[in-house]
Amino acid sequence: MPGIFFRGHHGANAPVVPPQVPPAPQDSSEEAEHPMTDPLPFARPSVEEPVPENADLEAAGVAVAVEVEEAVIGPTGRPTPVFPDPPPLTSHGHARVISMCNQKGGVGKTTTTINLGASLAELGRRVLLVDFDPQGSLSVGLGLNPHDMELTVYNLLMERDVRIEDVVVPSGVAGMDLLPSNIDLSAAEVQLVHEVAREQTLQRVLGPAIEKYDVILIDCQPSLGLLTVNALTASDGVIVPLECEYFALRGVALLKTTIDKVRERLNPRLEIDGVLGTMFDGRTLHSREVMERLVQAWGEKVFHTVIRRTVKFSDSTVAGEPITSYASTSAGADAYRQLAKEVALRCLDA
Ligand SMILES: Nc1ncnc2c1ncn2[C@@H]1O[C@H](COP(=O)(O)OP(=O)(O)OP(=O)(O)O)[C@@H](O)[C@H]1O
Ligand SMILES: [Mg+2]
Repeated sequence: MPGIFFRGHHGANAPVVPPQVPPAPQDSSEEAEHPMTDPLPFARPSVEEPVPENADLEAAGVAVAVEVEEAVIGPTGRPTPVFPDPPPLTSHGHARVISMCNQKGGVGKTTTTINLGASLAELGRRVLLVDFDPQGSLSVGLGLNPHDMELTVYNLLMERDVRIEDVVVPSGVAGMDLLPSNIDLSAAEVQLVHEVAREQTLQRVLGPAIEKYDVILIDCQPSLGLLTVNALTASDGVIVPLECEYFALRGVALLKTTIDKVRERLNPRLEIDGVLGTMFDGRTLHSREVMERLVQAWGEKVFHTVIRRTVKFSDSTVAGEPITSYASTSAGADAYRQLAKEVALRCLDA
């Protein structure tokens, strides 16, 4: 007799986590056996396969300046390269626009936007952060009061006489500015539906900032609605933060389908810049298995840098500043500094 989790039950006996998407057509036989949404146990290879030095980076075409010190195996199960400090910029502008995107909530999108931005600013990049989530966490996380904002991204999107320089505020970090948001932005999702070229609205209003900044990071809300499609349409790249937790793997196929659709229909230059493991706990087999599964599924797209779980991130949010200033010498701050170098090498200076 089937148990209560038997596939096909409904009502009170339905599985706790129903499948989210119909299985996408798989092109490799291994993927067909274990698709991303399949709630099966992980493959646990008993023998570690030797990984050729830097094979993943070479495949991505970014190996040029990377040295590998005595093949130290990192948390992603691959040899960890040493990422050099990027050379100082001689001029600014031609910003790369990168969205932090995952429709799952609480995976570290906002934390990554703040701390990657602050770390890139430390490296001399001019950074603009865009709070594109009506929850306004990015703005609050940088010490702003949501009730004190005169102009927000909402005004920029919906009012033709509002210019980007009217909305930009300093973030408190040298070299990093912010386009703030609050709950007003939730109205934009509804109102944009009636606009001409509704998916290109953010791209249009961000236009004047491209020549002023080196990198623009957009913090998306946890949904794949019209705001997120606007963010993807305005972007050159996407970074997908993923909590190192099994449920985090679910829904990734849907995210990938959305990115593919935006690339095909709206924005042919859109690339996946990388997948970032967050809230990693190296003491648990579970975190290590999720990391292994991520590398199996996304290959060289997975950043070598992994962000470990530490309460310092919540503390720094309460303090309203990035971890790079709140706990400058902490492991969390160092991890985001390393990520900034990896991102610079992989997609800013390439
Ligand atoms: N590496 C980490 N270790 C421990 N806590 C973390 C870590 N990264 C983020 N957090 C905490 O987890 C919570 C969720 O993080 P965050 O707000 O960055 O996620 P999010 O994906 O932006 O969420 P949402 O989808 O709601 O916008 C926050 O309280 C944050 O402080
Ligand atoms: Mg967020």
